Amino acid sequence: MNPCNLNQLGITRENPWAVGHFNIHNQEFIRAVVRAADQERSPAILAVGMLSVKYMGLEPLISACQVISKETDVPIAVHLDHARDVDVVKQALDCGINSVMFDGSALEYEENVEKTTKVVQMAHEFGATAEGEIGIVPHGTASVSEADMTNPARAVEFAERTGVDFLAVSLGSVHGMKTAGASLNQDLLRQLHQQIPVPLVLHGASGVVDDHIKAAVENGIRKINVNTGLKVVLKNFLSDKLAKDPDSDLLDDFDLGMDAVNASVAARMRLFGSSNKA
Ligand code: 13P
Repeated sequence: MNPCNLNQLGITRENPWAVGHFNIHNQEFIRAVVRAADQERSPAILAVGMLSVKYMGLEPLISACQVISKETDVPIAVHLDHARDVDVVKQALDCGINSVMFDGSALEYEENVEKTTKVVQMAHEFGATAEGEIGIVPHGTASVSEADMTNPARAVEFAERTGVDFLAVSLGSVHGMKTAGASLNQDLLRQLHQQIPVPLVLHGASGVVDDHIKAAVENGIRKINVNTGLKVVLKNFLSDKLAKDPDSDLLDDFDLGMDAVNASVAARMRLFGSSNKA
């Protein structure tokens, strides 16, 4: 059955658990996520972001996800993350990707509606799911202003006009934080969950403290995006290991690094409540 789309992971707007979206960049990350999903009996998303596409190439990366996802019987989706170019979405769909996110959050509202609608239609023709974004989740800033957070009336209209399957919202998280320190506007999240007819997505989860992640799941977040935190785990592990044992075989180091990422992914699955939901 693998890989599958986001609607085949068992997530619903109502069920109080969230699926982890883990950005992957090479086979070490892909296997670490797939193994954790298998051990935890948890659905999972292998997310292909633009920097990783630049690093490894779109087709090789999607193909590696497709092949390695077959190593488990728990549902695994392969998802394009933060595409800002409709042509890249089409290329990914042609490679057989199961789900796509179009990030039009930096565009004027009407242009975001128009391009996201086009992406949703294209994705559905391929049997894939589509995620859009409304509100700004910044990169590398200290905090998020009220004005950047998602406006409920706008978000309801956006979801209805575009037909997105999942909607990313801005609640106070920031992309790219190396340690967790951010909290989320849970009152805003409760309002959004009540009013928006599709499951909601949290971006920038590496920087959010665990208590706020747990509360966000209770209040309606159903997909949680993690990237930076896993890179930090691998980088810290490898720099320690190479300093302590410079003569080791590099492949053994990668294997052990994968185990460290695997443990971090599994811990997040337990935090998100997705363990034993496959
Ligand atoms: P972090 O890198 O902050 O975890 O954000 C990941 C993300 O939102 C990917 O879409």
